[in-house]
Amino acid sequence: RQQREALVSRHSQVLETANTWYRQQLRTADAAIAYLKKRGVSGEIAARFGLGWAGGDRQGLSAVLPSYDDPLPVEAGLVILSEDGRRYDRFRERVTFPIRNARGHLIGFGGRIIGKGEPKYLNSPETPIFSKGSELYGLWEARQAIRKEGLVVVVEGYMDVVALAQSGIECAVATLGTATTAVHVQKLLRASDSVVFSFDGDKAGRKAAWRALEACLPLLRDDISIRFLFLPDDHDPDSFVREYGADSFRKALREAMSLSQFLLAELAANHQMEEAEGRARCVHDARPLLQAMPAGALRMQVQRELAQLTRLTPEELGQLIPLQDVPSG
Ligand code: UTP
Ligand code: MN
Ligand code: MN
Ligand code: MN
Ligand code: MN
Repeated sequence: RQQREALVSRHSQVLETANTWYRQQLRTADAAIAYLKKRGVSGEIAARFGLGWAGGDRQGLSAVLPSYDDPLPVEAGLVILSEDGRRYDRFRERVTFPIRNARGHLIGFGGRIIGKGEPKYLNSPETPIFSKGSELYGLWEARQAIRKEGLVVVVEGYMDVVALAQSGIECAVATLGTATTAVHVQKLLRASDSVVFSFDGDKAGRKAAWRALEACLPLLRDDISIRFLFLPDDHDPDSFVREYGADSFRKALREAMSLSQFLLAELAANHQMEEAEGRARCVHDARPLLQAMPAGALRMQVQRELAQLTRLTPEELGQLIPLQDVPSG
């Protein structure tokens, strides 16, 4: 534990040095400033999120990091060691987004290219203190707003978090280009008992929402609220809030679909519900999902609605999907 804290502190120190340098670079990076302006990001919001700029120089950052031969900048993912032993900066020609853990320690970066190029976003690699599957971008910055709003909104992208904050909705966090995991859900439920997932209004976003639902199932409790907001027409929260405004996004949040609605709607949409065979397969496919839920009132409610949907009596469905002997949620 103490060793871990020492490790985090060693890493976050060198990351902070990099962050300070990136932020200094942004001040004179006209193209990056113009890019952020074009996307509606004010200087105030850029400062709030600590946005910076990694220029095109292959060794711009490497040259300013303390003791150049120290392995730490490499371990921390800032510097890449090439096969011929040369070092160069991982992030180049990118707007940098510092990523902090729940205690505010800097643990990694995301970087967006501002011109054409691949990949669009580059993240820190997995390091001893940074794991994409367990961190949420913006959680530290959003902590007060989450408490005030009694709500945490989960989005896909860095720019969704930043654009929502720009519009006054400061309680958003983002997964880091990975599917929502159980660790994410645990962190979210520690931050708030009300969670709304708002992924992109495209096929990938819908799939991501379903993966999030699956990650939530084992952690459901009767005293929490988990909802899904599906945005129209290939919008993401950034484009939506910029086109329709914060009030429309807030309204959409209030009207977001409950987890049980999403679960049942998706099951119904994926089966031939007008045929006995389709309804049977629906029960078959629903079984592992229901059994992933802790016993409790919500599971009973969902089971009753599934019985209606599949035209079984609750008793018949109860025989097919017995409540397991698990503690109630
Ligand atoms: P999106 O592809 O939805 O980003 O990726 P976007 O909304 O279009 O980005 P902008 O608005 O053009 O800037 C969502 C998230 O997936 C991860 C990043 O975390 C990104 O914020 N991602 C995306 C990557 O890690 N690498 C990529 O190349 C693309
Ligand atoms: Mn997308
Ligand atoms: Mn509670
Ligand atoms: Mn997007
Ligand atoms: Mn976007």
